[in-house]
Amino acid sequence: MFPRVRMRRLRSGEALRDLVAETELRVDDFIYPLFVGHGKGVKTEIPSMPGNYRFSVDTVVEECREVWNLGIRGVLLFGIPARKDEVGAEALSDDGIVQRTIRAIKDSVPELLLIADVCFCEYTSHGHCGVIRDGAVDNDATLALLARQSVSLSKAGVDVVAPSDMMDGRIAAVRAALDEAGFENVAILSYAAKYCSAFYGPFRDAVDSAPQFGDRKSYQMDYRNAREALREVALDVDEGADIVMVKPALSYLDVIRRVRDTANVPVAAYNVSGEYACLRAAADRGWLDGEKAMMEVLYSIKRAGADIIITYHAKDAARLLK
Ligand code: PBG
Repeated sequence: MFPRVRMRRLRSGEALRDLVAETELRVDDFIYPLFVGHGKGVKTEIPSMPGNYRFSVDTVVEECREVWNLGIRGVLLFGIPARKDEVGAEALSDDGIVQRTIRAIKDSVPELLLIADVCFCEYTSHGHCGVIRDGAVDNDATLALLARQSVSLSKAGVDVVAPSDMMDGRIAAVRAALDEAGFENVAILSYAAKYCSAFYGPFRDAVDSAPQFGDRKSYQMDYRNAREALREVALDVDEGADIVMVKPALSYLDVIRRVRDTANVPVAAYNVSGEYACLRAAADRGWLDGEKAMMEVLYSIKRAGADIIITYHAKDAARLLK
């Protein structure tokens, strides 16, 4: 073919490269995760996640205004309770930290899309994602609590609930409870293919949710498996998931692609805390160009097939895309 075909021809200038670019990244693609705890005037940087903070309700409202002004249209909320206990009671309370946060943000930045994580590991003393019975996480006993948490978040005004616990049957349980309570328009973003990953480390520091015994291998997926992710996704879609997620993103780009090719619902990918931390740590040491590496990573997730990217880079990337 050479010299008739020259692949470099279309790479010769920026306008031409932009014209033939196959992947588009938009600020609308991003969801920004936020951590909220009790107190007033709190904005404490998370050491392993520079540029990301633990907020209180008042300061997170300010942050949401900034996020909205950058063009980011959705946030994913995580709560840090006042007290952790065996069942994670604060997660179920209409006066819980995330419930209060939702009401405050809806009052001040009403158009911002609010997504709330549905899980117990941030709220339980043992750090597991559900109820413990005989030393193990009890699947079926956890379902009723996930349903109650989802209804309570909906009463507070959340737009989307995002179950991240990986119990079987949770999407059906949450959908039924929401419909029963009159919240048929609250959507479900399911953490459908959530792997048991070392890349959640910084997140667990941020919310102090590391399991106090054992690990999460009996409910989160084994990273050796990709076909299994397609089963998880199919089940969740059947049970009523509106959007499915693959998490983490970067070691699972193949899974994102396979899910995109088989599921007919929007696909989200979670560019998790450890992925962010690696990149920031290297950039802060001058070992790579942080902005360039960030954009390459975000485009790779989009190119793999994600419609939605949940990322701690959202604000920095939004500034570059503007
Ligand atoms: C809660 C939850 C976790 C993350 C999101 N929801 C932690 C975990 O499963 O241990 C991790 C997010 C991140 O690392 O950025 N179950």
